[in-house]
Amino acid sequence: MNIGKIFSPLIAVVIALLIYQSYNIYAENEPVEGVVEETAPPAPAEETMPLPPVEGTAPLPPAEATAPLPPAEGTAPPLIEIPVPVHPPKEEMFWLSPPSERKKEYVGMEKCRSCHTTQYDKWNETLHAKWQPSFTSPEKTKKARMECETCHGPGSLHVEDYKERLFITTFGTQSKDTREEQNAVCLTCHNKGSLYYWDGGIHGRTQRCVDCHQVMEKVSGQNLLSRASEKELCLRCHLQKKATTLRSPHLSQDAAKMTCSTCHAPHGSDTPGLLSASSVNENCYRCHADKRGPYLFDHFPVQENCLLCHDPHASANKSLLKMRQPFLCLECHSNLPNTLPSNADPHRVLDSGGRYTYNKGCINCHPMIHGSRHPSGARLQR
Ligand code: HEC
Ligand code: HEC
Ligand code: HEC
Ligand code: HEC
Ligand code: HEC
Ligand code: HEC
Ligand code: HEC
Ligand code: HEC
Ligand code: HEC
Ligand code: HEC
Repeated sequence: MNIGKIFSPLIAVVIALLIYQSYNIYAENEPVEGVVEETAPPAPAEETMPLPPVEGTAPLPPAEATAPLPPAEGTAPPLIEIPVPVHPPKEEMFWLSPPSERKKEYVGMEKCRSCHTTQYDKWNETLHAKWQPSFTSPEKTKKARMECETCHGPGSLHVEDYKERLFITTFGTQSKDTREEQNAVCLTCHNKGSLYYWDGGIHGRTQRCVDCHQVMEKVSGQNLLSRASEKELCLRCHLQKKATTLRSPHLSQDAAKMTCSTCHAPHGSDTPGLLSASSVNENCYRCHADKRGPYLFDHFPVQENCLLCHDPHASANKSLLKMRQPFLCLECHSNLPNTLPSNADPHRVLDSGGRYTYNKGCINCHPMIHGSRHPSGARLQR
């Protein structure tokens, strides 16, 4: 008997079975596309050429493959529940174009209200909801009134599938929409007045409208701010100013009714430092008009910039001075006249033996520090 004659077909059958086996496992675990691509190279098939294609094809094609494969037909896959006849244009199949490009339609505020009752009620108390564009023609008013979709965009797709975040315009840091896109929504209406400077200002280059404004409910008395008061709002980000405001004669007194936007234009301005006036000094003169002059004898730094000596926000020193005397004055006046015998020289203020070192105050003798109107006030002494 020739053993080879019995074994060779046996071996062939075993190999075939093994291939079949491994293939079957593969087919169950891998995504279908993978299998289709790999039908060609089953490894040890050199000798038994006809086998692999037959075995490989058999379990695969008809059952699993048909359902998810055919992008050709355009039948809606059953996994995503969107009614088939929604949007007719066939060449624009939705798995080829991003969902955001599908046509959205306006559905009206009452529709939104049916699910977002809380949001609706809160929003209804804000100025936007109450705004009436026209008293004279009610028809126009009805059309132009602000609704949810004025800001959130047409909502038809969102109503169908509210889990898909791409279907509705949102705001804030978690939103899919960029900072510019979010701001553009507000700027379609608010592009005049103080917002004219928005694009150039430091806030315009770094912030969103919704970083400072809450339009979905009435949080502040006016201006739809996102905090109860403006000071609270600004200090949320400008923490370094927080520590000092209580010490500030400008900001600590409620009677003075000053807030940050008394001096600053939060949306931007022509002036560096987001100031609301055309310069630092013009800003101060609005209230400290007596410092404007004209003087007979000017003290030059005063006309140049109040901040050479003062901190506008707060200071540990008297009169909001940014430095203690005499160091403040010595910053610029380092070579004072030294004409008298040392002990009597009023300008030896740093000398502990000096007679005039009381409080180290230059303004003890030069009190008209902002300028003098006296004919003999050249040294700011009267
Ligand atoms: C069928 C009920 C339903 C309707 C109608 C509906 N929504 Fe929603 N909407 C929801 C649900 C539920 C969520 C929360 C989804 C989530 O958190 O995943 C939501 C979330 C939102 C969000 C927040 C999305 C986000 O990513 O944070 C906005 C904005 C919104 N809806 C606006 C609207 C507007 C505008 C309308 C009217 C055009 C509207 N919705 C109509 C159910 C609805
Ligand atoms: C003036 C523009 C504007 C209008 C009008 C508007 N929204 Fe909003 N909506 C916003 C902004 C901005 C936010 C982000 C608020 C935030 O988180 O600070 C928001 C947030 C939301 C959210 C998600 C945040 C949350 O509270 O869960 C929902 C839901 C929502 N709006 C629904 C509505 C509905 C419903 C209406 C109509 C009744 C409406 N919006 C009208 C601008 C608007
Ligand atoms: C850094 C905070 C901040 C940002 C960011 C901000 N605002 Fe304001 N906004 C304020 C403050 C504070 C007020 C009230 C004081 C004032 O009138 O200057 C205000 C007032 C307003 C007012 C009413 C008064 C006016 O000046 O017309 C509108 C409208 C307004 N903001 C819209 C916007 C829009 C739109 C954006 C985004 C493009 C925006 N704001 C971004 C802080 C901010
Ligand atoms: C469809 C136009 C429109 C859009 C979009 C719009 N607003 Fe307004 N907004 C108005 C109108 C109109 C007023 C009322 C103005 C008035 O009475 O002078 C107003 C008022 C305001 C005020 C002043 C509130 C007050 O108490 O004086 C603020 C702040 C404001 N909007 C912020 C925003 C922000 C932030 C957005 C974007 C999320 C936005 N608005 C989107 C039209 C719009
Ligand atoms: C959400 C955060 C945020 C809020 C709220 C905020 N700011 Fe700012 N502000 C910034 C950032 C960020 C800068 C840029 C800081 C930098 O570059 O050092 C800035 C810069 C400034 C500057 C300096 C401008 C310059 O040219 O140096 C001033 C002034 C200012 N903010 C005032 C305000 C006032 C007033 C308010 C309240 C109405 C306010 N900010 C609210 C984030 C904020
Ligand atoms: C009395 C007017 C005045 C008030 C009130 C005021 N500022 Fe200022 N602020 C100024 C001036 C002036 C500058 C300097 C501008 C420059 O750089 O030329 C300034 C600069 C700034 C700067 C940038 C430079 C720095 O010092 O860091 C920030 C941030 C700032 N202010 C925030 C605030 C905040 C927040 C408030 C409210 C708590 C506020 N300011 C209130 C006048 C004021
Ligand atoms: C909106 C009005 C207003 C503006 C603008 C203003 N101030 Fe004042 N300033 C006041 C008030 C009110 C006081 C408190 C007066 C008091 O305590 O008798 C004050 C007090 C001061 C004091 C004295 C503080 C003290 O301890 O006695 C100095 C210094 C001062 N301001 C400097 C400035 C400078 C510098 C600017 C410009 C950056 C400026 N102010 C802008 C209203 C203003
Ligand atoms: C060369 C430094 C210097 C400059 C610049 C300067 N000041 Fe003063 N300022 C002082 C000194 C020093 C005092 C303290 C006077 C005192 O204690 O009697 C003072 C006090 C004040 C006071 C409170 C006392 C008073 O006289 O009413 C105000 C307000 C004031 N300055 C406003 C201004 C304004 C506004 C400017 C810009 C136009 C300015 N200062 C520029 C040095 C300066
Ligand atoms: C930022 C620089 C600067 C600071 C700070 C400063 N000064 Fe002056 N001061 C000047 C300049 C510049 C002149 C003009 C000098 C000239 O005309 O030769 C002047 C002039 C004077 C004069 C008149 C002198 C003359 O020859 O007419 C007196 C007095 C004076 N300063 C006192 C003070 C006192 C006191 C202080 C501190 C409270 C002070 N200065 C802070 C820059 C400064
Ligand atoms: C005891 C009073 C007294 C004190 C304190 C005093 N000075 Fe004088 N200062 C004078 C007198 C007096 C003159 C005029 C001298 C002259 O005309 O020769 C003068 C002149 C000046 C001049 C003009 C110098 C020049 O070249 O004409 C400056 C600047 C000055 N003082 C700055 C200061 C500074 C800064 C301080 C504080 C460090 C100070 N003074 C403290 C009395 C004083």
